[in-house]
Amino acid sequence: MSLIERLEETKRTLRLIGVHEVEVGLILGSGLGELAEEIENAVIIPYEQIPNFPISTVTGHAGRLVYGTLRGKKVIAMQGRFHYYEGHTMDSIVYPVRVMKDLGAHSIIVTNACGGCNESFVAGDLMLIQDHINFMGANPLVGKNEDAFGPRFPDLSHAYDAEYQIITKAVAEELNLNLKEGVYMGFRGPTYETPAEVRFARIVGADAVGMSTVPEVIAAVHCGLRVLGISLITNMAAGMQANLSHDEVIETTNRVKVQFKSLVKETLNRI
Ligand code: HPA
Repeated sequence: MSLIERLEETKRTLRLIGVHEVEVGLILGSGLGELAEEIENAVIIPYEQIPNFPISTVTGHAGRLVYGTLRGKKVIAMQGRFHYYEGHTMDSIVYPVRVMKDLGAHSIIVTNACGGCNESFVAGDLMLIQDHINFMGANPLVGKNEDAFGPRFPDLSHAYDAEYQIITKAVAEELNLNLKEGVYMGFRGPTYETPAEVRFARIVGADAVGMSTVPEVIAAVHCGLRVLGISLITNMAAGMQANLSHDEVIETTNRVKVQFKSLVKETLNRI
């Protein structure tokens, strides 16, 4: 089946289940899925019920779409995303983004938990993503281009929407949040980086390192979606603190998720 045919099939099922108008897609990173619980008149669809959707394998990722209204916007949220390190193809990782576009979304908000490599950051900081470095060794647009969906050679000069960044910064100020800004560098994982890789990341201009986000943003820009990216710095990257653990990632996420949720919701209201 072609991409367009697969999308048609997915959309048909979602419409039958009650997914109608969509304005904004939300991709909720590790531990940040709770935001979807605030969606009103929620239609909840486990990924396994959606034709052509991959199945999530990571614990802490619920693996479902939640559709409804949040801060006055029609949203569809991914509670749990697909990662390259899980063994998913780039094509399946970005499939949900294309579904969001096909359902009528004009924008997506992409979030993640990641490590800070900018020396002025601390664990618990929120970072507005200004740009990214694709260090995953793959690109979701490799292969035949679906011209109906987007151009062969997409321009990533303005991948992260400038206007949305201004709005998010204004919201952070009003909420009294100290919002950092920076460049996100995507690694393949699932190992955390080595200290040498983190030094390298800093030298080439990264402020944060993580294992997601880059594929989805590339696919979003390709099909004309506006993108807002927000990272939660759950730890300082390898070599910048004693050691790294998934437990710390979870702990920091739990500590900061209230601020994270307010930032996303209030920004959503204004985009
Ligand atoms: N590196 C990569 N991914 C991560 C990190 C990190 O330090 N922390 C949370 N996700």
